[in-house]
Amino acid sequence: MKYWPYPKLFAHRGGGSLAPENTLAAIKRGRAMGYIAVEFDVKLSKDNVAVLMHDSTLERTTNGVGAVKDKGGDELQLLDAGAWHSPEFKGERIPRFTDIAHFLLVHGVMANVEIKPCEGREAETGRLVAELCSELWRDHAVKPLISSFSFTALQSAVLAAPELPYGLLIKTPAEDCLIKLKEIGCVSLHCNHMEIDAAIVRLFQDNGYKILSYTVNEPERARELVSWGIDGMFTDNLAVMAREFPGYLSPG
Ligand code: G3P
Ligand code: MG
Repeated sequence: MKYWPYPKLFAHRGGGSLAPENTLAAIKRGRAMGYIAVEFDVKLSKDNVAVLMHDSTLERTTNGVGAVKDKGGDELQLLDAGAWHSPEFKGERIPRFTDIAHFLLVHGVMANVEIKPCEGREAETGRLVAELCSELWRDHAVKPLISSFSFTALQSAVLAAPELPYGLLIKTPAEDCLIKLKEIGCVSLHCNHMEIDAAIVRLFQDNGYKILSYTVNEPERARELVSWGIDGMFTDNLAVMAREFPGYLSPG
């Protein structure tokens, strides 16, 4: 039996649509709503500070301009990463991954750390994020699940921290993904829920992998995925999903 301590429901990008994505405020909001597992995206600043950020550029979710990979960690800290969402979150910062990890550990929140490297920085992002996870969760039994669309980042992460669990992100999974999953030594496959069916879920589970899907916001669709045996769902619709599936907030 592969290592799998996680619940079925993960808050996507911290707090889904309720708070600015990939911020501490988002993770706090998710936790307050009962989510004990959270997915977020991590990339590196120019000077190798691991930060939570989805896009490779700053414009959509901050008041900055340009590419994240061209900014230092201190420069990123000055930006507002909350006002774009709503006035309530004005002044929210781009969090450092280490600060988020401490919050998660103190509050008993499980993590799916998605390595989202800036272009050209795949290998070093994978290595550095895995090293941080290994160190930060060293004394904790429940490890973060590390995932990425970047095969290079995952390869590098596994080399740096082979003891951690890994998931491969593939938008549209097919049988040939099995080779990649085996090569990395993954425990799970994460894919777009629109791109899977019952046969795909069965194929990967029969081969020993968990299968998770993003971004599941409709209860009806969630029920269908669960009827196929889906192991995990990332959601932006925190309130409705928690209300409809309270049992999926806890492991087991
Ligand atoms: O990790 C699942 C999901 O977050 C992947 O897509 O673009 O939201 O990071 P994205
Ligand atoms: Mg993500």
